[in-house]
Amino acid sequence: MDSTPLRLAVVIASTREGRFGPTIGDWFVEQARGRGDLELDVLDLADAALPDRLTGYGTPTPNAVAAVTPRLAAADAFVLVTPEYNHSYPAPVKTLIDWHFTEWQAKPVGFVSYGGMSGGLRAVEHLRGVLAELHAVTVRDTVSFHGAWDRFGPDARPVDPDGCAAAAKSMLDQLAWWARACARPGRRIPTSRLDLYRTSALSVGATNRRKVGMIMTSEVVSPRRTSWAPVVALGLAMLVVTSEMTIAAVTLPGIGADLAVAPSVTAWVLLAYALPMAALAIPAGRWSDGADVRAAFALAMIGVGAASVLVGMAPTFWVVVVGRLLQGAAGALIVAVYMPIITTSVAREQRGRAIGFVITIMTVGSMAGARWAVSSPRRGVGVRCSW
Ligand SMILES: Cc1cc2nc3c(=O)[nH]c(=O)nc-3n(C[C@H](O)[C@H](O)[C@H](O)COP(=O)(O)O)c2cc1C
Repeated sequence: MDSTPLRLAVVIASTREGRFGPTIGDWFVEQARGRGDLELDVLDLADAALPDRLTGYGTPTPNAVAAVTPRLAAADAFVLVTPEYNHSYPAPVKTLIDWHFTEWQAKPVGFVSYGGMSGGLRAVEHLRGVLAELHAVTVRDTVSFHGAWDRFGPDARPVDPDGCAAAAKSMLDQLAWWARACARPGRRIPTSRLDLYRTSALSVGATNRRKVGMIMTSEVVSPRRTSWAPVVALGLAMLVVTSEMTIAAVTLPGIGADLAVAPSVTAWVLLAYALPMAALAIPAGRWSDGADVRAAFALAMIGVGAASVLVGMAPTFWVVVVGRLLQGAAGALIVAVYMPIITTSVAREQRGRAIGFVITIMTVGSMAGARWAVSSPRRGVGVRCSW
């Protein structure tokens, strides 16, 4: 089992002057620190002072929000320490939630609630519905303090420390379980619509929104940690795809001589690869959206291998062409899963490096294809024996 500490953001929700929240928050933070499997970041909304007026799409993010967002993004899990105000939760929590979207996705949220008779439980139940909208998962067990001010002594310690510690442990155990389950790389959240209205770069009308609502899509869970093996495998696959394009151009005269085909006809070797690459790129991308990207990638690699064997063993020119068509189709699938593999394997902050790596490999592949074909001992059949 993964023993890396989980990053837990503890949000102190009340900002009221003379608030009781920090007493409860301090006790809870002490409980969480004592476990050893959590790295804590305490976000006090009184200090964060988030503006309650949201900005328009495409306008700059206020500094107060920009200071908080990376802290939410870095968290594997959240605990909201919230009182109950008028049978619900305080407004600053909603403000924090509404300023963000992906930062909540596929992460668990636990609650430490407090209040009068209700112990803040009505605030918690309202938050569960709100957080579900953001694809966050709320854990069942809650720590709640009914008549909170009577539950803590003058020393700001709970009057029933063991009972309170047991409740905190139960909630944190569930939170940690969910955090590890949600953080597994490659996880996707299937959704029935695109949340375009949350994408700051886009502003769409109601009609478009309804149209877009018909599209089935999925939201990728961005991994918190990078696994480089899929990126390296992708790089090698891209080396094959791009070198396939240039290797054939150099070898056309040899192919013509080897298989007794006129030079004008040999151009089909190039076309047969490029056509499916162009025609299938969009359908392959759409298909792979709903599929397991790693399985789609494996299928594409098997396709490239099988098609290459066919090209290599082709008894006639037109069998070469059929093999090249299949190579191009498999290549289109590799190109289609390029971005999904990166987004599901690489942590957000390392994506630029991963994309740069793959693009460098693609450039090398297009140069190497020509080089390999020219240096092939049987120049004419370079394309037939290369892959
Ligand atoms: C505006 C307001 C509304 C409240 N409404 C409720 C309520 O509906 N139910 C409840 O149990 N307690 C209610 N309370 C009591 C609070 O839960 C309690 O005072 C708590 O300590 C507030 O948290 P804070 O001191 O950290 O701000 C309310 C308090 C305030 C200030």
